[in-house]
Amino acid sequence: MADSPQASGSQSESKPSYLRFALIGYGYWGPLLLRNLTRLENAEVSIVADLDTNRLTEVAKNYPHVQCTQSVEDVFASNVDAVCIATPLQTHYKLADEALRRGKHVMVEKPLTGTAAEALKLAQTAKEHNKFLMTGHTYEYSPEVEKLQKFVSSGELGKLFYINSSRLNLGIFRKDADVIWDLAPHDISMTNFILQKLPVSVSAQGYSHMNPGHIDVAYMNLKYPENISANIHVSWLNPNKERNFTIVGDKKMVCYDDTAGNEKIKLYNRGVDKPEYSSSFGEFTYSYRYGDIVIPYVQGAEPLGVECRHFAESIRSHSEPRSGGLVGYNVVKIIETAHQSIEQGGIFLDIDW
Ligand SMILES: NC(=O)c1ccc[n+]([C@@H]2O[C@H](COP(=O)([O-])OP(=O)(O)OC[C@H]3O[C@@H](n4cnc5c(N)ncnc54)[C@H](O)[C@@H]3O)[C@@H](O)[C@H]2O)c1
Repeated sequence: MADSPQASGSQSESKPSYLRFALIGYGYWGPLLLRNLTRLENAEVSIVADLDTNRLTEVAKNYPHVQCTQSVEDVFASNVDAVCIATPLQTHYKLADEALRRGKHVMVEKPLTGTAAEALKLAQTAKEHNKFLMTGHTYEYSPEVEKLQKFVSSGELGKLFYINSSRLNLGIFRKDADVIWDLAPHDISMTNFILQKLPVSVSAQGYSHMNPGHIDVAYMNLKYPENISANIHVSWLNPNKERNFTIVGDKKMVCYDDTAGNEKIKLYNRGVDKPEYSSSFGEFTYSYRYGDIVIPYVQGAEPLGVECRHFAESIRSHSEPRSGGLVGYNVVKIIETAHQSIEQGGIFLDIDW
């Protein structure tokens, strides 16, 4: 079971203070990454690679000092310290593997790879080559998610009952991944991070409405230790955008709505109290607590910016990134097992850690 950050061996090289980055993939997500990477202090983005020349023309227009290339070999042969990969899922393993073998630190956009075996191999390759491998679990770097993690770890919510997460919208349909591979990495990585636990089993149901065999709506249920369950609903077929995450504890409950401007988190001092003793079920009277609803202050920050700074800081300080290769592996393993559950009619399957 890989529940702790990987030890990448001793990073014996001298600490590089000035960092050179490369970016592979300048489609939808690449421009956001490039904007944040170019804002890093004491660093530069030297080279961007994309197979599509139209995308490279866009790079050249906005970042005239950055070298553009269609050849990923130019990236591997360059003197960059680190490579960020924002290409379709099926290309992640090959590109990341080559970059690590050519001596670069690597950050791969979520999900890390298309199979758990590949994710493990990548983590191992990073270790062998004394390089850091980071997974782009962007929400793990969101100030709101960090706040939720603190509510849980401080015991403020009490004993946890369950988590409910929905990530719904109309599209955007992807060809390289179904809706589970596309959206659920966010919910799973957030849940693992907030609970600081891994699920023991998963059941899932997936439905394909627009393209046969390409799941566009899915429901997953993850069982965590201590009887905590997490329900995840992801969909590309919803009339409006929903990004809701609720944690229910026996003392307090918290709702996080990522679409809600400045008031994304609401902490409810609500719950149900059971009488200590009753001789029969008929005498049972629950009392319902309706206390204050608090909107905590959360210092805003763009999660992707925090993620990029964390990657740079990990390299400089020779410390394993929070969402390292094995953390990425955990998410891929859960998704892989969820697909096995779908193939077997949605039964709960133990995750073979
Ligand atoms: N962290 C997040 O919140 C987040 C959000 C969106 C997407 N993503 C992830 O980012 C990755 C990319 O997603 P996207 O939406 O930008 O995809 P996209 O299809 O819009 O863009 C991918 C780009 O990669 C290029 N490309 C493909 N194969 C290549 C190769 N071998 N070498 C060089 N360039 C290549 C394509 O030409 C394209 O421009 C995916 O893994 C996705 O899951 C993460």
